[in-house]
Amino acid sequence: MEQITDINRYLDRMSKPLQEKLKIAKYFSKDVKSVLDVGCADGTVTLALADMFPTVNFVGIDLDDDFVDLANEKVAGRANVRFEKRYLRDKLAETERYDAILFCSVLHEFFSYGEGISSVVKALSDARELLNMGGEIIIRDMILYEYADKSQLWLTDILKKISREELKPQIDDFEKYFGKMNSIKSVNHFLLKYMYADNWQREVKENYVPVSFETYDRIFELLDMQVSFQRSSTIPYLKNKWKEDFGFSDDELESFRSTGIIVAAK
Ligand SMILES: C[S@@+](CC[C@H](N)C(=O)[O-])C[C@H]1O[C@@H](n2cnc3c(N)ncnc32)[C@H](O)[C@@H]1O
Repeated sequence: MEQITDINRYLDRMSKPLQEKLKIAKYFSKDVKSVLDVGCADGTVTLALADMFPTVNFVGIDLDDDFVDLANEKVAGRANVRFEKRYLRDKLAETERYDAILFCSVLHEFFSYGEGISSVVKALSDARELLNMGGEIIIRDMILYEYADKSQLWLTDILKKISREELKPQIDDFEKYFGKMNSIKSVNHFLLKYMYADNWQREVKENYVPVSFETYDRIFELLDMQVSFQRSSTIPYLKNKWKEDFGFSDDELESFRSTGIIVAAK
């Protein structure tokens, strides 16, 4: 995985939308007793959830030693949470099973730093095995619908607004990895990352939106799981930023999304 040049900035950036991320708690079923948080980083989301649900047991796993060390430093006497440096797959050899498994801003990294879609399918398939019967996988990530790739609505005006001189180097880099920016989906993808200039060389290569809602539907159908909830939305902070930075109209802004939630039950 390409080096993160400034770990503190990376963690700070991830923790900023914490309140937004904590909304995933709405999708826990009433009788949830155990939660596995996959790709927990320094545990910010896991710990906040553990505080919100003191009678639920949380396990956070991540591949990154430094993040897991930081997470362990923050546990501070909480009895209902622990962190492990572990591959998801290694959990299959253990007997512990879970009522909910979270993938919060993680599956696009499995895709980009693993083997593409096969890493996502394997992760969800492993997660299914780690669930108790009736348990749920909850995904929160940047997810778009396939129709975003076909839509041409307002595209010409939107491209004019995006093509600002000072963004040209970033647009060129982006197009090197993802091809010409010529659809609402590609503009949406760029809008999700142009602000990460400080870690740009790492960020530009990462596919933020590799798996569409439709593809997740197909994966869960194969896994014999029922998708019980799906939502696509835009966090207000980003909507305002895009409006300020590019002067998009409300109609134009409606073309873009930042966040997808999918809940699927075993
Ligand atoms: C963008 S961060 C998200 C952290 C946290 N879930 C949040 O929402 O704030 C992605 C995390 O996934 C971890 N990660 C990436 N690929 C992974 C894998 N295959 N297994 C476990 N963790 C992984 C990274 O180390 C990183 O800490």
